[in-house]
Amino acid sequence: MKKYLLLLVFTFAIRYISTGQSPAAPTPDVLISIGTLHTDLVYRISGKDKRLYQLFLGPKLINTEVLKQIKNSDHQAYATYGTGNLFEPAIRMTHTDGNASLELKYVSHKTENNDKNVTITRIVLKDPEYPVEVILNIKAFVAEDVIEQWVEIIQNESKPVTIFNYASSMLHFDAGKYWLTQFHGDWAEEMKMQESELTSGIKIIDTKLGTRAHMYQTPVFFLSLNNKSDENTGELIAGTLGWSGNFQFLFEVDEKNSLRVISGINPFASEYLLQPGKIFKTPSFFFTYSNKGKGLASRNLHRWARNYGIMDGNKTRLTLLNNWETTYFNFDQPKLTALLDDTKKMGLDLFLLDDGWFANKYPRNDDRAGLGDWQENKAKLPDGLGYLVKEADKRGVKFGIWIEPEMVNPKSELYENHPDWVLKFPNRPEIYYRNQLTLDLTNPKVQDFVYNTIDDMLTKNPGIAFIKWDCNSMITNPYSVYLKDQQSHLYIDYVNSLYSVLDRLRQKYPELPIMLCSGGGGRVDYGALKYFTEFWASDDTDPLERVYMQWGYSYFFPAISVCNHITSWGKQSLKFKTDVAMMGKMGYDIQVNGLSANELKFSQDAIANYKRLSEVIWHGDLFRLISPYDENRACLMYINSTKNKAVLFEYTLNARYGETFNTIKLQGLDPAKTYKIQEINVSGERKGPLSTENGKSYTGDYLMNIGLNIGSGQPLTSTVYEITEPDGQ
Ligand code: GLA
Repeated sequence: MKKYLLLLVFTFAIRYISTGQSPAAPTPDVLISIGTLHTDLVYRISGKDKRLYQLFLGPKLINTEVLKQIKNSDHQAYATYGTGNLFEPAIRMTHTDGNASLELKYVSHKTENNDKNVTITRIVLKDPEYPVEVILNIKAFVAEDVIEQWVEIIQNESKPVTIFNYASSMLHFDAGKYWLTQFHGDWAEEMKMQESELTSGIKIIDTKLGTRAHMYQTPVFFLSLNNKSDENTGELIAGTLGWSGNFQFLFEVDEKNSLRVISGINPFASEYLLQPGKIFKTPSFFFTYSNKGKGLASRNLHRWARNYGIMDGNKTRLTLLNNWETTYFNFDQPKLTALLDDTKKMGLDLFLLDDGWFANKYPRNDDRAGLGDWQENKAKLPDGLGYLVKEADKRGVKFGIWIEPEMVNPKSELYENHPDWVLKFPNRPEIYYRNQLTLDLTNPKVQDFVYNTIDDMLTKNPGIAFIKWDCNSMITNPYSVYLKDQQSHLYIDYVNSLYSVLDRLRQKYPELPIMLCSGGGGRVDYGALKYFTEFWASDDTDPLERVYMQWGYSYFFPAISVCNHITSWGKQSLKFKTDVAMMGKMGYDIQVNGLSANELKFSQDAIANYKRLSEVIWHGDLFRLISPYDENRACLMYINSTKNKAVLFEYTLNARYGETFNTIKLQGLDPAKTYKIQEINVSGERKGPLSTENGKSYTGDYLMNIGLNIGSGQPLTSTVYEITEPDGQ
């Protein structure tokens, strides 16, 4: 009894300390519910302390008011520092008087309908003692089941205040166990998947690369609750940050086994001086909740990305021939003209001229010189880009061009003329990555230079129909002459400056397809992708590697955005290479004149197949059937929304002695429809008999519950099937 009394006194004391007020008659709690078709995110405004708490994140409830019955929900929605929170905060700042604490109390909230499908809820929180306001923005994409969160911080003190932490999102979970799936890599090794259990304490996934988020660690994750999830079972969220620079995901399991997930810009070396009256807006964190495994989470993200996340996600794409791997820097006008012929011969839409076409004083004949001098190289292109555009047009193909406008080689006229436009430390030797340095995009003059370089090129050559925008280096010398004594703004201002240049370009060129590239897949994120139609996934185009890599990307990014090229990497057959590339946005980077007659015919037919089926691959729903991480083969399929056309890809990666592969059960079909199975990509190159399933018809019911007997069982072979409801075409 005595012990109990003591506990009561102690609890009372804690509460008294934590609120700083004497207990008054509590007013009732109010709930803020944000819902999509299948998900609810619910906050509680405490009547007692006026703080905002996250009450629930999970499947759609019939009535969220029942949540009021939950006891002890004390997960602060946007936890601060210095006013009771003893774990990692979402926000931390020091006021002008030196007070390093922040209290946030609920002021108001409002939900508006953007349109029938999108709601935006703005929750205003305020410090009762200091003129600091924090607005939590939560956008719900109803049909796609995706939620976007970002935060605005505003201060009206007499002088600037310093903010040290400024998360985009803070989410809380209460589960028995937490399983984190993360993706890591390097140049030519993107998207390697790892899964581990979160243990108590903090786990951080981040990068500090400046110009890009991706590489080393990718700004995406799955978090499975209680048990590991697979394609069709398990409760999880899939999260990603839309920010093309330093990012951080922080996972903290506390003493009660609760988990907080804090996502946003990496606060590393980035304390920010916020001027009075100015708004600090964080990038957006996007997530989807699924209680039916990773497959559903991916389909939610894909649908959202096509509708809202990437540029023109519901439109079509150009198939192309790129010259990078066939010529590297070594080309001239006749060689390129021949490649235009090859583009036509293959049946492709566009020829993409890669690196090496520019610079004269320091010609771009390798990666050590010329970057930044964006004038046509007179020796290689005596008649300029205009000539190539015209020649392409004559052949009925389009012309596209590579550019890397944020970068400079020290051996360039740009560097000679504007040494102060380059990011580099005073009193230190320059550190290079790929022999180059990053331009100081925080400087408005550099922003104009980047904008004008592209605008001039497109104005002079309006026939340019495609751009590949590269960014081959991270920020290796983080110091800006322009930023003077605010060096800790560099990482944030760089990315915002990039976005403002892209905004300007998109205003003038709203329809130009642009591929996002960053030394392979270094810059893949939804902050950048709203300006880009597609991305270069990796310089590694070995198809065996690509099965794993593309599998990884497919969790978070739709097939229409992932550029897969058929190249000379890897010793596998042309068919295997083609079948692997076809699961996304297919393109070519091969010596067309080195193809045998059979190979040429095979490729022409495959391109025609691709064009016929691209609508399903680009805009259909993806079902991953067999993971290469689980078996010696991989299998996936796309199906259109009316469920009368599907494409299935099967890859045998390896086969142990005596190994037999089971039939593959399909997914996503209409059980009542009858489908015809036709093996494609079989002309010329294909060795051996066609699949025994070729030409057969089955109901969707059969295909999903009994399955297809497909695949040759030979290592590094593949089969592709067109699955059609004949009456439904
Ligand atoms: C990067 C890209 C390649 C190619 C080269 C050109 O590495 O990823 O595709 O464009 O630059 O230098």
